[in-house]
Amino acid sequence: MKELRGRTALITGASRGLGLVIAKALAREGMNVVLAARSPELLEQLAAEIRQMGVRAIAYPTDVADEAQLRHLVEATLQEFGSIDVLINNAGIEAFRPYHLINPEDIVQTIQVNLTATMLLTRFVLPHMLKAGRGHVVNMGSTAGKYGPAFGAAYGATKAAMIAFTQSLRGELYKTGVSASVICPGFATDGGIYEVIKQRTGRGTPWYLGSTSAEAVAKAAIKSIRNDRPELIVNFPALRPVFAICQAFPRLGEWIVRVTTRRFLKQAATRD
Ligand SMILES: NC(=O)c1ccc[n+]([C@@H]2O[C@H](COP(=O)([O-])OP(=O)(O)OC[C@H]3O[C@@H](n4cnc5c(N)ncnc54)[C@H](OP(=O)(O)O)[C@@H]3O)[C@@H](O)[C@H]2O)c1
Repeated sequence: MKELRGRTALITGASRGLGLVIAKALAREGMNVVLAARSPELLEQLAAEIRQMGVRAIAYPTDVADEAQLRHLVEATLQEFGSIDVLINNAGIEAFRPYHLINPEDIVQTIQVNLTATMLLTRFVLPHMLKAGRGHVVNMGSTAGKYGPAFGAAYGATKAAMIAFTQSLRGELYKTGVSASVICPGFATDGGIYEVIKQRTGRGTPWYLGSTSAEAVAKAAIKSIRNDRPELIVNFPALRPVFAICQAFPRLGEWIVRVTTRRFLKQAATRD
């Protein structure tokens, strides 16, 4: 979708972190934005800031783990704006913990927030996009979905599923005017879930794993909509060659991933 000005974007997880930065970036492109997350005050604050940019912004407090609230979010947005042109499935939680110690409830909640909500919200929005003959769904994956991280099994599993989900959608939606993309950021250095990991380990990610910024992720989201990109990995240095090695030579790939990430991820998963 080339033209974004005057169109409507619905973004989940907009109260802070990457979602907040993406919402502002979409507003800078002239899009009206609907902001969803569980924190009403943070959403209202952002909506007020975005309205100053000359576009419309509405905060809809929503728990994406609740199907009824997702249905209501879609209905309320359509009633207010008449269409949903862009859906950004960004709300997400991490669950880094040795898998034999993770709370079963945390496994369920991670799947619910990261994956089930993404799939349900897309299901509720797609009929309207198809009827309008235009729309774009952006799913917030992760490099953790490109190769399952040690100590992040539940999180990585949801992100890998989001990549496959996006591929299926693209196959189905070909030539309908509606499409989908998945964005796979590495560690964002300026806020978001990896801040927590930084606090736990007392240091940033090792330099050789690289990093990204929230602005770079927002730029990628916009590029994915404008240029209909299937998948964008957002990290410097580029990780695609490593993932290609993992695909072509699994044993070598596993060794590379283990020596570069395991120690750091183990520290990140240690809570006591
Ligand atoms: N930051 C990174 O380095 C990085 C890297 C790769 C991928 N990602 C992905 O990017 C996305 C955003 O991550 P982030 O780093 O910005 O995380 P964050 O700062 O922790 O923000 C998470 C957002 O999700 C919302 N959220 C969580 N549970 C929710 C629920 N049940 N219902 C509605 N909203 C909920 C939070 O809002 P409330 O608490 O107000 O509900 C918040 O707005 C996630 O999908 C994450 O997996 C992030």
